[in-house]
Amino acid sequence: MAFALDLDGKVALVTGGSRGIGAETVRLLRAAGARVAFSFRKARAQAEALVAECGGTGTAGDGPCVAIEQDLSTPADGRKLVESAVAAMSRLDILVANHGVWEAEDVPIAQMADAQWRHTLAVNLDAVFGLVQAAVGQMLRQSEFAAPGAGPESSPKNSAFRPSEGAGGFSLPNKAARFGVASATGLSSLRPDRLFQQAPETGATTSGTTGPGGARGHIVLISSTAGQRGEAFHADYAVTKGALISLTKSLSTELAPKGIMVNCVAPGWVATDMSKATLADPATGEKTAAAIPLGRVATPREIAGPIVFLCTPLAGFISGEILNVNGGAVLVG
Ligand SMILES: NC(=O)c1ccc[n+]([C@@H]2O[C@H](COP(=O)([O-])OP(=O)(O)OC[C@H]3O[C@@H](n4cnc5c(N)ncnc54)[C@H](OP(=O)(O)O)[C@@H]3O)[C@@H](O)[C@H]2O)c1
Repeated sequence: MAFALDLDGKVALVTGGSRGIGAETVRLLRAAGARVAFSFRKARAQAEALVAECGGTGTAGDGPCVAIEQDLSTPADGRKLVESAVAAMSRLDILVANHGVWEAEDVPIAQMADAQWRHTLAVNLDAVFGLVQAAVGQMLRQSEFAAPGAGPESSPKNSAFRPSEGAGGFSLPNKAARFGVASATGLSSLRPDRLFQQAPETGATTSGTTGPGGARGHIVLISSTAGQRGEAFHADYAVTKGALISLTKSLSTELAPKGIMVNCVAPGWVATDMSKATLADPATGEKTAAAIPLGRVATPREIAGPIVFLCTPLAGFISGEILNVNGGAVLVG
């Protein structure tokens, strides 16, 4: 009997996979057998090291791991990343929208600059809209065109590549046509109205629209306790994370009938670069840990584990869930 955490044959895209929670999620998804594309913006050296650690890109288009350089500040950025990931990996079964920004400095609302507000919303929310939109289109379309595990013939030659350079030299239009990539002619045709030209629904099958054998796709959005209870002096961040919770619930109801499971992980404090300065400060660090019933902050792996679980058949009846992963600090969904 196959172990139910097995993600063999699945392809995942993790945004912000170069560091922190995202990098740990990439590692665990690989350990579960998935092939993984992940994005980075600046941390090229870390991204390349992670690709090497996770088995490299391979040479036959069915490589285990690829890093894609992509800023995520607009819906178009999100759509472009999905297209790049599908071009590199031929399909998409799992999207983990993990990237994010949090301004470490406390900023009272009366002093918050428009630029900070706009930037946080752009990265944490606008880009997620584009990511989800394109991923859903791909997941629906590919179940019509290709079976899980169908492999491409070539792949990017470099362990990290820029979408603007094309997908490592192979012809995107041909691959697009063959594997159900949204655009056969380039990004301009990756339009929302085309994204939802979905495959006809044939009901639950073993390929998994709603059956226990698996889903057509999994989407996991990474929120925060800030999205559940708000965060004083970080209203911009809290607003985006609250919106991701609403997005999860909206999409779950919309997409579960189509076999796409949409869930959310809401971490509390996690020891990553994002929280480093705050946690390293003796005053705020101690106070922060003391406010958590478990008495400490999480490791990135303690967040990555629940993310991966939600993408496995063990979570086959979970959709619309806001999973608290916060050491008992916040007990709301
Ligand atoms: N750490 C916590 O205490 C905590 C708590 C609750 C929720 N979260 C959430 O968990 C997620 C991961 O957090 P983390 O702590 O792992 O963060 P992190 O260590 O700061 O890593 C952030 C990741 O996001 C990427 N990123 C940042 N800005 C980007 C942009 N404009 N475009 C594209 N990518 C961008 C970074 O890429 P580069 O590496 O290339 O710069 C990096 O891979 C975030 O959504 C965060 O809000 C974190």
